[in-house]
Amino acid sequence: MVNAAQPGILAPAPRVGRYLFFSLTAAAPDALGAALQRLAPLVDGATVVVGLGADTVRMLGAKVPGLRAFPVLDNAAMALPSTPIALWCWLRGDDAGDILLASRALVRALAPAFALDRVLDGFRHGEGPNGHGRDLTGYEDGTENPRDAEAEAAALVVDGGAGLVGGSFAALQQWEHDLDAFERMTPQRQDDMVGRRRSDNEELDDAPPSAHVKRTAQESFTPEAFVLRRSMPWAEGMRSGLMFVAFGCSLDAFEAQLRRMAGLDDGVVDALFQMSRPVTGAYVWCPPVQGGQLDLRAVGL
Ligand code: HEM
Repeated sequence: MVNAAQPGILAPAPRVGRYLFFSLTAAAPDALGAALQRLAPLVDGATVVVGLGADTVRMLGAKVPGLRAFPVLDNAAMALPSTPIALWCWLRGDDAGDILLASRALVRALAPAFALDRVLDGFRHGEGPNGHGRDLTGYEDGTENPRDAEAEAAALVVDGGAGLVGGSFAALQQWEHDLDAFERMTPQRQDDMVGRRRSDNEELDDAPPSAHVKRTAQESFTPEAFVLRRSMPWAEGMRSGLMFVAFGCSLDAFEAQLRRMAGLDDGVVDALFQMSRPVTGAYVWCPPVQGGQLDLRAVGL
């Protein structure tokens, strides 16, 4: 067990979640260190998970090996936006009011170096046969996640010294569903799109190569590409989708999966694109915690 990881990374997704996306302001060069020092004691890693973007780390004059910008995959058949962010907070709980009040404290601590650009509210939807929540399409999400020691191995950095061990990298992609398009598909086509049967979550042996779980089968990559997915459905008015979040000990596994979903390996595009598309894409580094607060030693704070 790596004690220093933000505990919310390994815990199951909460009932209510809120994502805060921040950018750097003109005040950042002078105000950045102090803002992060005000933030650190507010972050236990359990009720809020925090990640820093590559620009923030660079502006601090620091280096986190493996942190990079979300790639621009030029040759992909569909748009995969790269929308870098400076700082990400994932608030986790079961009371939307508490989460709103906690968000206010985070925004206050981070000003004036960081400006809050976007807020997205997520939630747990239903429960599948394996105890995970469902995507809004009704399919259980999280079945093939690694568990226990394997989850830690997939998600957490194990070397690099104090301030780096227990850290994690997160790939963040907001996907917007076209549920009308999904509902127009026959149940068979829906199951073929995912590669699992919605009614009992069984994997379909005869699913087409475009099926999502065929595209992303973690053991099928060389090297194997395991990540720890902690996504949540989101809704804003009548718009909705999945806030995809995958934690990794590096960003390589996610990137290999995304490339294959986009058809860049073999020309076969993931069938999910028939009813959903990513509208954002960002990478962050989630520092470890020490003494119940964010450990920012790796960035010199
Ligand atoms: C609209 C967006 C997405 C939806 C609705 C979705 C939904 C699902 C569902 C229902 C499963 C099967 C159950 C499970 O094992 O969790 C699954 C598996 C998986 N998904 Fe996604 N997913 C989405 C996007 C992505 C993205 C962007 C990636 C990575 C680039 C990804 C990676 C995976 C992986 C690694 C698995 C497990 C594959 C295996 O080893 O069997 N998913 N997803």
